[in-house]
Amino acid sequence: MNPELDWTEQGAPRSLRFGDVYFSAENGLAESRHVFLESTELARRWREEARPDFRIGELGFGTGLNFLACRALWRSLRSQRQTDQLHFISIEAWPLSREQLRRALAAWPELADGAEALLSVWPEQPGHVLQAHWPEDGLRLSLHFQAVDQALAALRTGKAAGMDTWFLDGFAPARNPQMWTADVFHALARLSRAGARFGTFTAAGRVRRGLEQAGFRVEKRAGFGRKREMLRGELMPPQPDHTAPWFRPAAPGRPERVLVVGAGLAGSATVYSLARRGVDCVLLDQHPHAAAEASGNLAGAWYPLLSQDLNPASRYSLRAVETLQTRLKELDSAGIAVEGQRCGVWLAARSEQAMTRYARIAEEPALAALGLRFSSDSTPYAGLALGPGLWIPGGGWLHPPGLCEGQLEWARHRGHLQRRFGATVVQLQALPNAWRVSLDDGETLDADAVVLCSGAVPAPWLNSRYLPLRPARGAVTLLPDAGSDLPRCVVCHKGYVTPAVRGWHSVGATVDNRERDTHVRPSDHARNLHALSENLPTLAAALSGSAPADCQGRASVRMTSPDRLPVIGPAPHWAGWLEDYADLRRGSPHSRYPPPQWQPGLYYNLGHGARGIAGSVLAGELLAAQLCGETPPLDETLIRAVHPGRFLIRALRRREL
Ligand SMILES: Cc1cc2nc3c(=O)[nH]c(=O)nc-3n(C[C@H](O)[C@H](O)[C@H](O)COP(=O)(O)OP(=O)(O)OC[C@H]3O[C@@H](n4cnc5c(N)ncnc54)[C@H](O)[C@@H]3O)c2cc1C
Ligand SMILES: C[S@@+](CC[C@H](N)C(=O)[O-])C[C@H]1O[C@@H](n2cnc3c(N)ncnc32)[C@H](O)[C@@H]1O
Repeated sequence: MNPELDWTEQGAPRSLRFGDVYFSAENGLAESRHVFLESTELARRWREEARPDFRIGELGFGTGLNFLACRALWRSLRSQRQTDQLHFISIEAWPLSREQLRRALAAWPELADGAEALLSVWPEQPGHVLQAHWPEDGLRLSLHFQAVDQALAALRTGKAAGMDTWFLDGFAPARNPQMWTADVFHALARLSRAGARFGTFTAAGRVRRGLEQAGFRVEKRAGFGRKREMLRGELMPPQPDHTAPWFRPAAPGRPERVLVVGAGLAGSATVYSLARRGVDCVLLDQHPHAAAEASGNLAGAWYPLLSQDLNPASRYSLRAVETLQTRLKELDSAGIAVEGQRCGVWLAARSEQAMTRYARIAEEPALAALGLRFSSDSTPYAGLALGPGLWIPGGGWLHPPGLCEGQLEWARHRGHLQRRFGATVVQLQALPNAWRVSLDDGETLDADAVVLCSGAVPAPWLNSRYLPLRPARGAVTLLPDAGSDLPRCVVCHKGYVTPAVRGWHSVGATVDNRERDTHVRPSDHARNLHALSENLPTLAAALSGSAPADCQGRASVRMTSPDRLPVIGPAPHWAGWLEDYADLRRGSPHSRYPPPQWQPGLYYNLGHGARGIAGSVLAGELLAAQLCGETPPLDETLIRAVHPGRFLIRALRRREL
């Protein structure tokens, strides 16, 4: 996809998508030399350091100005260099067309021969990667036409293949946040050779902190032209991990037997993931059957939560949906069908703002694999006209109790599940190297570990001060199938509507914060139907028929956390944390703190909020990996984002405790 550009009087391109210039309007070439070539000391290093090859990585190839400036310097030092081979590896999600490139580079007569060399290899239709080699100059270009995170993930790791220098040249961080994320910075460190340098035009605090956290020493330097400051720096030798010692993983022995409290989506997924690793589970629930609380709705929607800056909640959700799809396939190939349909999801855009956001998300290269479509007309997707919106093909609805039962059946069939239903856990007790739960009928059960998947049911052992989860009552209204076969997919606005399932459309869902009452009220239906007719009148008309008083429905309670992410992982020893990390209140640096104390063998899988269908499956995988000491299925940033100890650490830092 070529970028949409406008051009300054001096002939410099400007991106309409990002509302930013490709390089300084004052003098792009001089800026490139100052910010990238000089700040990373290329000339000195090429003269003084003998290496078989030198590798430069760039984020944001744009017009190729940095590449051409670099090429010119490289050629000018031919007789003085101690290195023969230069490999320039760059990443660009929106390559210029050949015409755009020619026009942009025409501004630099002194780079004309380089511009011709580049134009001669520039593809008409950019594929995945452009490889060009100019052996007479010892120069190679690999240009990855991909989103930065995908390209970095695909680059070979290992120090031999790492970079000696990075040019960080996205648009301004506020306009182009995807180019400046913690994940990108960590990937840079992973893909660097020892002592790698970087240069960037920005001096934004979050870029500086992000690079420091990824292991770079960062220094400020005078910026180019009117820019007061820029950043440059160097990868430091690996240090013992002093960052956030509280998040260091617990190191359990692999458990033989685990008690899982709660047979909803979270508990069932935990059982499946443990059973897959050969761990025996006892699943406890106060009800006589699984999925009797929040996980008991007739149908729920699943689809990824999308954001332009791919924030942690969005990345967790994307991963969760992938994991759910794999789980459904695994169950299917074991002969277990979960009632549901991968019919796609239409996200109706109800405001100008939502339209702009969805349009951008649809074009986000990092999300290209999802096949998203922004359209002004929903008819081809939903079967009726609902105005503009975003089409998400990789989503749909399923019957949550079916997913619970399917996973439990899978584990039972393999001999790893014992159910103990109709009994309430009333006490939880830590024994030396084991846990004991006491049931309301007097029975006690012991195991190596306990995973609490108890949803919104209050319990004395869940300390709400340090685990600030909040109940939110919700009701779904069921409308009878009008026989029209509409909508053909799940439709979401503020709420959602499913295609007819067993003769009923689910119209959800109300939100009553801090309420726990599960009786259905006529006002629940009135609210659901009002929201539907306000936001999607055509769909409301297509489904109309029932007055709120006659509607059926179901109310239950989901648990939400303040940051909208679930709580998954080992249980901190709260008193130990408060004592050991008390100095966080005074902002003392990380290296002073001891490793975390745990309640060994106690784990949480809670707070799945409104997205438990997919979220619970990934949570089960993460917990099972943690319990069995395996490599977790999430990167470190996400493990920390869902970590049970995060609220306490934040509260200490804010001096709230
Ligand atoms: C109205 C509504 C609509 C929703 N729609 C969607 C949707 O469309 N898509 C989606 O992804 N998500 C949706 N959700 C969210 C989803 O339903 C929840 O995130 C999910 O069900 C939470 O699962 P859970 O296992 O954590 O909790 P639950 O399903 O509540 O399970 C907890 C279990 O623990 C048991 N338990 C607790 N304490 C004890 C004890 N002491 N002893 C024995 N047993 C105990 C309970 O009996 C219960 O069975 C919706 C939620 C609501 C309320
Ligand atoms: C400031 S311009 C780069 C200027 C360029 N170095 C030059 O010499 O012309 C930023 C570039 O980053 C690209 N970009 C922005 N976001 C991206 C992303 N998420 N993945 C890959 N490239 C991206 C833009 O398309 C643009 O070409």
